[in-house]
Amino acid sequence: MSDSPENYPIRLQKYLARAGAASRRGSEDLMTAGRVTVNGQVVRELGFKVTPGVDQVSVDDVPVLYGQAPSYLMLHKPAGYLTTMDDPQGRPTVRELIPVNEIPGLFPVGRLDYDTTGLLLFMTDGELAHRLLHPSRHVPKRYRVLADGEVSESAADLLRQGVELHDGMTKPAEVEIGEVRPKQLTPREQLRLSEDKTFSAYQTEVTCTITEGRKRQIKRMFSYIDHPVLELARIAFGSLELGDLPVGDWRHLTEDEITQLRDNG
Ligand code: URA
Repeated sequence: MSDSPENYPIRLQKYLARAGAASRRGSEDLMTAGRVTVNGQVVRELGFKVTPGVDQVSVDDVPVLYGQAPSYLMLHKPAGYLTTMDDPQGRPTVRELIPVNEIPGLFPVGRLDYDTTGLLLFMTDGELAHRLLHPSRHVPKRYRVLADGEVSESAADLLRQGVELHDGMTKPAEVEIGEVRPKQLTPREQLRLSEDKTFSAYQTEVTCTITEGRKRQIKRMFSYIDHPVLELARIAFGSLELGDLPVGDWRHLTEDEITQLRDNG
């Protein structure tokens, strides 16, 4: 490590302000509210000192980096990976798929379920991540949903208006019904078809855009209309499109993409 003055201990609120997490006053408020951790421990004491490049400082569990140009990338998340940088149970995580050694401090912006595929954004810019995830920002997220059964326009209208989930009404969603296809049924499912009136031989492709980010929201919305999700992929996040990035690959965002994300989400 270089022997620049930046490697000397400085007050935590100064670190936060210089790293762009908040103003000096705002940084003190973050600390007293218990939202700041240093090396995993909450620090409320305003005189506390940290050494840039050595101590790990986070706000609301999002790392705050100091004196480093921020990095931004998107991953085409495969199914079978948890959206976390550390799983105590040792299950596969998205950390294995991104260049964490070359770009320290990357963290996922939002999350996709274990079995969901698609666009997952990573960055080292805590301030932008906070803005993108803030509920007031209403960043649109577009999903390709393979839903059980034949989804009708009247069922889609319910999602367009908003439905009551256990954590409240959903905001209006954009819903476009695509192709209805017969399922490839196993012999057991063929039997079920003749015995179970609720079992459908069809599945429907639906494109659904929501502006919230509640846990398992798309799955819960489609269960509400009795068309459970069979497969789920996120194809856009704000102004970013997944495009033809192969599953499991990542790429840096372009300058234009970063500018658009900053300006419009
Ligand atoms: N909605 C879900 O149900 N799951 C996801 O992974 C993302 C949105």
